[in-house]
Amino acid sequence: MFREDIADDYISTVYYNEPQEIKNIRESCPESLTKMQMHYNECRILSVFLKSIRANKVLELGTLVGCSTAWIAQSLSGDMPLVISVEKSLKHYEIAKKNINQYHLKERIQLVHRECLDFLKSTEITFDAIFIDAKKIEYPKYLREAKRCLRSGGLIIADNTLMIDQKQMPEISNAMKEFNYLVESDKELTSAIIPTKSGLTLAIKN
Ligand SMILES: C[S@@+](CC[C@H](N)C(=O)[O-])C[C@H]1O[C@@H](n2cnc3c(N)ncnc32)[C@H](O)[C@@H]1O
Repeated sequence: MFREDIADDYISTVYYNEPQEIKNIRESCPESLTKMQMHYNECRILSVFLKSIRANKVLELGTLVGCSTAWIAQSLSGDMPLVISVEKSLKHYEIAKKNINQYHLKERIQLVHRECLDFLKSTEITFDAIFIDAKKIEYPKYLREAKRCLRSGGLIIADNTLMIDQKQMPEISNAMKEFNYLVESDKELTSAIIPTKSGLTLAIKN
């Protein structure tokens, strides 16, 4: 029988070597927020998929302190690689800005202090991939806008999509179910859910 905790423990023994610079960013996260950060192994999954499509321009929704942003930056290919990461909390944005200023790939990163939906609705950039990790109840809205600014063959990657049983916050469960339904039923997308602890949905624009 598959045991999730055994798998987690084992994976942590194989992939324990997070780059020191990124580890420093991870550790700068205030203790009350650490649970919001993407797990190291999930960052690796994100990185592998971005490399597989040779992503050059990536949009991240939800920066927090910049840990996944740094992972994305080091996964980019081609000329003038760019990750734009959008964050609405001034406190998180300021910590991320400080972290990214010390990161050796800072030229590849543009942090934006703004509501994700506003940014999505106004951007004219076409992205190779969009990583969704901001306000959970807005995932269905993000999806509609993200499709518009994603190239053909581009990837949507969304974290926490198996948060489908949130007894205290049923609106999050409902939003995730709606998001997964919209992704699966969309004829323009081919998708799958990776059953990480909180779920990672991947969808490629056909
Ligand atoms: C789960 S955390 C992001 C974690 C980060 N991607 C990582 O793995 O290191 C979600 C972030 O999205 C931000 N956020 C929530 N709602 C947002 C919105 N409507 N627009 C922009 N950012 C938002 C939160 O302030 C928080 O910093």
